[in-house]
Amino acid sequence: MSTEALFNLNAAGIAYIVSAILFILGLKRLGSPATARTGNRLSALAMLLAVLATVFSNDIASWEWILVGVIVGSGIGAYSARKVQMTSMPQLVAIFNGLGGATSAVVAAGELIRLIDLEELIPQDVSITIMASVIVGGATLTGSLIAYGKLQGVVPTRPLLLPIRHVINTVLLLGMIGSTAWFVIDPSISAFLTAAIMAVALGILIVIPIGGADMPVVIALLNSYSGIAGAATGFVLGNNILIIAGSLVGASGLILTRIMTKAMNRSLVNVMLGGFGVDDSTMGASGDDERPVTSILPEDAALILGYAQSVIFVPGYGLAVAQAQHQVRELADLLKIKGITVKYAIHPVAGRMPGHMNVLLAEANVPYDELKDLDEINGEFSSTDVAVVIGANDVTNPSARNDKSSPIYGMPILNVDQAQSVIMMKRSMSSGFAGVQNELFFLEKTQMLFGDAKNSVEKIVGEIKDL
Ligand code: TAP
Repeated sequence: MSTEALFNLNAAGIAYIVSAILFILGLKRLGSPATARTGNRLSALAMLLAVLATVFSNDIASWEWILVGVIVGSGIGAYSARKVQMTSMPQLVAIFNGLGGATSAVVAAGELIRLIDLEELIPQDVSITIMASVIVGGATLTGSLIAYGKLQGVVPTRPLLLPIRHVINTVLLLGMIGSTAWFVIDPSISAFLTAAIMAVALGILIVIPIGGADMPVVIALLNSYSGIAGAATGFVLGNNILIIAGSLVGASGLILTRIMTKAMNRSLVNVMLGGFGVDDSTMGASGDDERPVTSILPEDAALILGYAQSVIFVPGYGLAVAQAQHQVRELADLLKIKGITVKYAIHPVAGRMPGHMNVLLAEANVPYDELKDLDEINGEFSSTDVAVVIGANDVTNPSARNDKSSPIYGMPILNVDQAQSVIMMKRSMSSGFAGVQNELFFLEKTQMLFGDAKNSVEKIVGEIKDL
């Protein structure tokens, strides 16, 4: 090895260590809304350093293609970061997971083609990691595309249950393991393609039976898979930072999956076996219910809030749609000036992505110590005067607690129904993501304030200022 190559290797090695430290610090900081922004920046810096170190420590055959990739990739990234609505973020994450998996699989396949061209014996450890990368990456790609389709509404969100799906999946799984073993013993393109095709088919078949309401878990799991595929490709290429970064994504995705399953009170096996979520018989149920509800105007809501002593805001997906976070903070500030205690109840799966409500409220500079998670706040509703539900629905539905026939039965919910009174802001009687009726609407203590959340909160703010 030449002195220059050795210097490059050492410089790259040091850059990789710095990059790994930055990734770990970045992840740590992502754990709290207060530090999440710097965490994001540190991780982005780590990625830049890793890419630069990799590019400059290798003999580059064609800079043109790298530049084209950088320009196209950065362009798409910058465009989506600016244009994609906050409400479509889960779809974007699904696509990114899928592309991560696909990239790992393609790079591993490229390495296989290179090794076959060299006509050298492929060591078994290399063929095992190539197959791991291609199988996990391929399944991540197709699974993520189906998850994207379900979230975007282009694939039915209800669980699609094929009659003999367990048999088909088992046959595919065994076939995939068999062809992988065949490839490891005798690396051939046919064995490789057989395993790869079965993996992409499995990706589709595993996600198709999962209902829309379980998508948070699926997205977190696919995120973890994309990391595992990346780490496997790191072993194929002998690239340490890819192994480290892939393992970090794989592990954090698994931790997130655990948090999501816990938040929905579901086991992972239960989610993967499918069948839970939106079902046709419950779709649109809220719209068809003829029972009366109490409806109020913003001026009534202002009076109720103005004379309360304690208020808990319960934000949900509708807050993100309405982009009402700044108005809600303004309202909270006004109430606090009047000596009213204000807190925010954050459900782990409120909105459409993990941490969705934290991100929104942080954007409006809501003090972090006012954000309370489910376990922390649930005991406080019974001693609270008013719970103000802003565009949340499923996460407040008492049927999750007591109706065994409800598709969301068992999911821990915010105990909004235990507050002295409830103001429920939404536009209509429609159901939420899970498509189920919310009994909270019909309680005597609940007052419905119909309209766009931003509009309603703006009007309440105006009224409170005049009180
Ligand atoms: P949802 O149950 O989906 O309810 C949101 C409510 O917001 C709807 O009922 C809607 O009623 C109302 N809304 C929509 N636009 C509005 C606007 N402009 N102004 C006022 N209200 C508006 O939301 P949630 O309570 O946050 O629960 C989240 C659901 O999504 C759960 O079922 C969860 O499992 C699922 N999910 C979560 C994630 C993650 S990771 N968080 C990912 C995928 C799915 P109207 O149409 O009547 O206004």
